[in-house]
Amino acid sequence: MSEESPFDVDSIRSQFPALDRAEDGVPVAYLDGPGGTQSPRQVIAAISQTLERGVSNQGGGFRASVDADRIVEEARSAMADFFNCSAAEVAFGQNMTSLTFALSRALSSAWGPGDAIVLTSLDHDANFTPWVLAARDNGVEVRIAEFDVASGELDPDAIGELLDDRVRLVAVCAAANSIGTVVDVATITEMAHAVGALVFVDAVHIGPHRAIDVQATGCDFLAASSYKFFGPHTGILYGRLDRLAETNAYKVRPAPSDPPGKWETGTQSFESLAGVTAAVDYLAGLGGDGKGSRRSQLVEGFAAVGGYEKTLADRFLDGAGRIDELKVYGSTSEAVDRVATFAIAMEGEAIAALTSRMISAGLYVWSGHYYAVNVMDRLGRTGSGGLIRVGFVHYNTATEVDRVLDVLAG
Ligand SMILES: Cc1ncc(COP(=O)(O)O)c(C=O)c1O
Repeated sequence: MSEESPFDVDSIRSQFPALDRAEDGVPVAYLDGPGGTQSPRQVIAAISQTLERGVSNQGGGFRASVDADRIVEEARSAMADFFNCSAAEVAFGQNMTSLTFALSRALSSAWGPGDAIVLTSLDHDANFTPWVLAARDNGVEVRIAEFDVASGELDPDAIGELLDDRVRLVAVCAAANSIGTVVDVATITEMAHAVGALVFVDAVHIGPHRAIDVQATGCDFLAASSYKFFGPHTGILYGRLDRLAETNAYKVRPAPSDPPGKWETGTQSFESLAGVTAAVDYLAGLGGDGKGSRRSQLVEGFAAVGGYEKTLADRFLDGAGRIDELKVYGSTSEAVDRVATFAIAMEGEAIAALTSRMISAGLYVWSGHYYAVNVMDRLGRTGSGGLIRVGFVHYNTATEVDRVLDVLAG
């Protein structure tokens, strides 16, 4: 057990082979979780065993083909537990961006001049540009809800003010991949539904940090990416069954006409889907005594993850507050609900220089805009190299937080 919390991070870390990586004898700290997380052994094994055993395409009737059917079915059922929905409401794709392009194109074919959509400046560009292009192609007005630059928060009223009966869709993230803001999606969904608008949620960044519950939030669509929650590179779309059924998907003729198959273009990566199931099972395994449904174990597992990550976030904020030249963008209050993703800059040191100083110390951090181009614009960082992103997930440690603070303190 670690000293700071009952969360057994040493045992967690022992399940992730990549975390043993060292460069020139210096252990590497993977602080790039927001860009993609590492995978535990059971995910790696599920992927390699699928390929080693042999897997054929679906629909062949022979055993290796039936295996593919089973893998897809198991992954749907795993993701249904992950989202708290039914398996028929889960569709797979290459990544979140591709799924969002496909959905935006499909939904917007029913929109036209006089209609409007609401997007936010807090979102990753994958939940912005696909909608802007779909709106442009159909003569639809785009309204942008602004986050509060000082606090990093997105007030639901900023969206509420833009809503009227012309709005067909609100697209919003559950958490910001840049400054770690957690968004009140349930309230936004209620407001949007009150004017008849659909709600699409980008859950990519919340994925590794919190239990997602589409029933509780009531959203119509939601997309996630398994490589951000310890699985392989596969995107996942949730859609309320009636919405998936009533929306015209762009698909080839022999593909299924019903959801979820009509939303899945071409052949899926079966090895990745086996990995997706293993990632969900890994997260469920963090939930207590292994009793109860996989969904209830996931909820428990994420409660433990959230509690532990908060200790890392608080430790980071506490230490960061003592470094005069350091500026943390977004919320710096330990009382505010956020995920442990921090965008930072140091007065008097260029982003590129600080990034290389951190990377030389074995700290895998990201810098630039990480596709959150509107966020960098609103924070006034576009022309100055963006910001450095330090992201903590549940396999990171208090020691790694301290290593970051030591390098920053210089
Ligand atoms: C918040 C957020 N949304 C969307 C994406 C795009 O996801 P994908 O790479 O699966 O297309 C990312 C990737 O960084 C992200 O962080």
